[in-house]
Amino acid sequence: MDKLAIIRKPIEQEVVAFSSYFKSQFKSDVTLLNSALQYVCESTGKLMRPMLVMLVAKCAGEVNEKSYAAAAAMEMLHTASLLHDDVIDESDKRRGRPSVNVAFNNNVAVLTGDFLFSQALNNAAVTGDCRIVQELSVLGKALSRGEILQVELQQNGSYSEENYLKVIECKTASLFVCSAVCAAYTANAGDAMANKFRKFGEYVGICFQIKDDIFDYSSNDVGKPTGSDMREGKITLPALYVLRESSNPLLEPIREKLKSAEILDENEIESLIRISVEEGGIDYANSRIEHYRALALDALPTDIPSELHEAFIAYLDYVIMRNK
Ligand code: IPE
Ligand code: IPE
Ligand code: MG
Ligand code: MG
Repeated sequence: MDKLAIIRKPIEQEVVAFSSYFKSQFKSDVTLLNSALQYVCESTGKLMRPMLVMLVAKCAGEVNEKSYAAAAAMEMLHTASLLHDDVIDESDKRRGRPSVNVAFNNNVAVLTGDFLFSQALNNAAVTGDCRIVQELSVLGKALSRGEILQVELQQNGSYSEENYLKVIECKTASLFVCSAVCAAYTANAGDAMANKFRKFGEYVGICFQIKDDIFDYSSNDVGKPTGSDMREGKITLPALYVLRESSNPLLEPIREKLKSAEILDENEIESLIRISVEEGGIDYANSRIEHYRALALDALPTDIPSELHEAFIAYLDYVIMRNK
């Protein structure tokens, strides 16, 4: 059975019910907004965060109405952040087709993103659980902090693995943490179980972003542009590794430019990508994924039904082995 099938086995009906609940919220009486919402809704992503909500809720007790609302809140906020991210990154492709900023324009993308942020908040309120509203507000701030920290580090030329981890914990892992913790709340899990899943969410989220960043070094079709991180001034783990470890003379001028926040030219980007691949940067990033995978496995509660335990392991493996 493939990984996705193992993940979905214990939550098959719930994922179907979630999808229709989620999609029903993509409408508006304003025609232009409605068109943009329909456009977004036509290509849902992998639903990683809602699946995590459902698996955790199932472990803790049951997937109930509150769990669906919490899952919708997470996926709405995620979707909103992608609409905004593609404007910020001037990216033209998302989920295999033109991003909203290209299919419509920047204004529509930002405002539709704002609408989805508010819809996320509404879903948090529907749970009737103040802890979930609070977690969502912390999450919203973490996403913005992560994105702005990324800009600040770039402006200061402060590239290090430590700073990279701070950014990805805020901009990516926070969503997995929030999904796991809120799911536990909706199913009335005790603090001990909620805390274990908080850790699981954090480590799986870190694995997710490192894997996503590795995509950028290949030319495979992953449904969004590759090779664009460095053009955006983002130096991710494989390149951070060679910048720290390699004595290749081609890296000297690149280090100097990055330190003074200068934009790399196309030749320098090509060299940095090539050296990252040839001199162990990708292998190093994969070894860090293995490190966080082991921590995620350690965090997983053991006293849960085997079908769910297997689903969590498949979830982790899917994050690591996925090709989009
Ligand atoms: C993309 O997330 C944003 C990152 C954190 C890199 P996903 O790859 O989960 O996006 P979709 O929802 O499946 O498109
Ligand atoms: C991911 O940021 C979006 C957020 C986590 C808000 P990136 O810019 O790194 O991801 P992609 O490659 O566009 O999905
Ligand atoms: Mg982007
Ligand atoms: Mg970005």
